[in-house]
Amino acid sequence: MAAKDISTVLPLLEDFTVLLNGKQTTLYFIRNNTITVALTNYGARVVSIIVPDKNGNPVDVVVGPGTISDFLQADHSYFGATIGRYANRIANGKFSINNKTYQLAINNGENHLHGGVGGLQTKVWDVVQPNQSSIEFICTSPDGEDGYPGNMNIKVIYTLSNDGELEINYVAKTDKDTFFNITNHTYFNLNGGGSIENHTLQIFANQFTPVTKSLIPTGECKAIANTPFDFSKPVLIGEQINEADEQLAYGYGYDHNYILQKENNNFCLAAEVKGDVSGITIQVHTTESGMQLYSGNCMKGTNTMKQGTKDDFRTAFCLETQHYPDSPNHPAFPSALLKAGKTFLSRTKFIFF
Ligand code: BGC
Repeated sequence: MAAKDISTVLPLLEDFTVLLNGKQTTLYFIRNNTITVALTNYGARVVSIIVPDKNGNPVDVVVGPGTISDFLQADHSYFGATIGRYANRIANGKFSINNKTYQLAINNGENHLHGGVGGLQTKVWDVVQPNQSSIEFICTSPDGEDGYPGNMNIKVIYTLSNDGELEINYVAKTDKDTFFNITNHTYFNLNGGGSIENHTLQIFANQFTPVTKSLIPTGECKAIANTPFDFSKPVLIGEQINEADEQLAYGYGYDHNYILQKENNNFCLAAEVKGDVSGITIQVHTTESGMQLYSGNCMKGTNTMKQGTKDDFRTAFCLETQHYPDSPNHPAFPSALLKAGKTFLSRTKFIFF
C-alpha cells in the first residue's frame, strides 16, 4: 500500500496568522530528508514534528492545538512552547541574589511555575530563517518582568542537523545577575495519539529529586532503585504508574526531575522512548543536568487539539531538559545563576528513528 501523503497531517499556515499584541504570528517549516517540523513564533513553539513510522507513513508525534485560536483558548499556554525565565517551579515565587530578595509572579498554588503569567511562552518572538533546515527565534525580557532581575536577550535556534535530528540551541544574556532555566515543553505521542502507557521508556539516570505535595523539591536526591521511578532499563510508562506511592500520588503520575549522569558540558543521552504502534523511537540528548518526566497527568479533555481531538489523560509525555526545579532555593543543586554579561548556552537534541 502506498504511504500516506504528508499533507494529511500538516498544520495550515492560515490557521496561525493573527495579530497578537501588535505583532504578527505565523507558521514556519523546517525540513530535511526525514523530518518536517512546523513552528510558530507565538511562544517560539513546536507545533508539529512529522516523522515516518515503521511502514513509511507520516506521523505527527506532537500533541497540541492545531490552530492559533486553540492555543490561545487552551487552559494553559505551555503546549510545545519555549519555557522561561525559569522552567518548572520556584517555591513561593521567591529567591535571593546578592542579599536581595525577589518576588516573582505566583501562578501555581502558592508557587511560581514556568516563568509566570507573562512567561516566554506568551511572547510573539522575532524570527530569522537562514535556510530551510534552521530557524531562530529572538526575544527580549525587560528588567522586572514577572519579578525577575535584568534585561535579557534570548535566542532559541531550531536546526535539523542530521537526518532524524532536531537540535535546539538556547543562547541568552542578562545585564544583572539572575536565575535562568529554559526548556521546551513539547507534548509527545509517538503513535500520533491514544494512551502513552504502552510506550517503552528508558531514562539514563539513577536518581531523581522527590517533591512535596505542592511539587517543590524536598532537596533530597533519591535513588530510583526499587521504586516505580526506575526506568534504568526499558519499561512501559504505564507499568508502575498506578502503584501506591506517595511521590506518584503527589504528581498524579510522573511529574519529576531526573538527575542525569553528566560528565562535562557535552551532550549526554538522557532518555529513549518507543511508540508501541508506530515503532517510532525518540532519543533525548542534552547538555543540561536534569530532565523532567511529565506523563500528561493534568490533561483533562478540556482543550481542543489537532483534528478536533481532546487533550485526554496521559495521551502525551514531556521530557523537559532543565536545571533542577527550585534550584535557586537549594544551594546543593547545580546553580542556575546567570551572571551579568555572561552568555548562557544550553543544547538539547531529539533524535528520531
Ligand atoms: C510540570 C507540571 C505541569 C505541566 C503543565 C510540567 O512541566 O512539571 O506540573 O502540570 O508542566 O503542562
